[in-house]
Amino acid sequence: MNDLPVRQGLGAAAPLGDTLPAAWYADPAIFAKERTAIFHRHWQLFAHESRLPDPGDYFAGVLAGFPIVVLRGRDGRLRGFHNVCRHRAAQLVPDGVGHSKSLVCPYHGWSYDGDGKLIRARDFGDDPGLDTGAMHLFPVRTETWKGLIFVCFDLDAPALVDWLGPIAAMAKDYPLERYRFYRDKLRDVAVDWKAYGDNYLEGYHLELMHPGLCAAIDVSQYMIDVHRREEFFYLYGPRRDDGLTQGLYFYRFPVLMLNLYDWGASIATIDALGPGRMLHSNWYLFEDLSPATKAERDRITDWAIEIVSEDIAVVTWVQRNLNTGVYDRGRLSPKHEHALKGFQDMARDGVAAYDSGWRPRLRAG
Ligand code: FES
Ligand SMILES: [Fe+2]
Repeated sequence: MNDLPVRQGLGAAAPLGDTLPAAWYADPAIFAKERTAIFHRHWQLFAHESRLPDPGDYFAGVLAGFPIVVLRGRDGRLRGFHNVCRHRAAQLVPDGVGHSKSLVCPYHGWSYDGDGKLIRARDFGDDPGLDTGAMHLFPVRTETWKGLIFVCFDLDAPALVDWLGPIAAMAKDYPLERYRFYRDKLRDVAVDWKAYGDNYLEGYHLELMHPGLCAAIDVSQYMIDVHRREEFFYLYGPRRDDGLTQGLYFYRFPVLMLNLYDWGASIATIDALGPGRMLHSNWYLFEDLSPATKAERDRITDWAIEIVSEDIAVVTWVQRNLNTGVYDRGRLSPKHEHALKGFQDMARDGVAAYDSGWRPRLRAG
């Protein structure tokens, strides 16, 4: 395959054909294949390092159906585990941020150290068959890039930095590692992850749907480069003279959205909860969290949140219609929807891999 990105937005290109069938956005059988062959294969953003700065801090949540916890050990290292007790499968810690010297199961009190090792099976009784050494918490691959903590369920996936590919080098001048978590915005909505991705990866709707964005960037110059082999998109929208901001914008398949600015970043990801349902998580990071700049931070985040709200509103209508079965497929604009086509092809590749028998290796041994 050609390594050069394919650029959209400079004029008409070749016809792109039809959209994905509507059933792909609503069918549990398609979703089950996507979860296995896409979401269990790729790295996914999970937490920001600034939320667990000290040994004993942890962050727990559910991703691609798996309850997981990432915690910082006494050695300062981050480790990820399935949030499941080896005794009778209770959840060890509640979702969210917390702090604990050891992980003590609330059900019967088994405790684990920061390495995931079982250190005590409380009041268990005499059982020579209990092999405490084998009762280690199930590990989850956990790596960080510039303060962003990712997890991956596939033991054979490439390292995070290789998965990020050229993005890591392209973003090297942005001091993302210095930015601190300011706030997030979570939205559990009746929208398929692909309906959201479709919308994100075309500029066709910008003039009609986003007056605030159009005031900030010159949408007539909006372009998206498709890096098909590395499965990411580079989005380009230059600032208007008096516009609010300019930055570097990436979409890494399947669901990572990185908007990097000189003052901070807006980072978003999606947990695909089911066919036609997702949790959209958007984090706003700033280098300067001082009280003096709070008003400016709030002005910027309110502006950015409004743009996502406009998108969520329109894709919610879209999803409702995709669910009805009235509409099956539409036609893609050769001028504007080239990246969307690339995105849909990546989703097709995932489902095709599943159909040809590919499965991630989730457990050692
Ligand atoms: S399930 Fe955790 S101690 Fe029993
Ligand atoms: Fe949009």
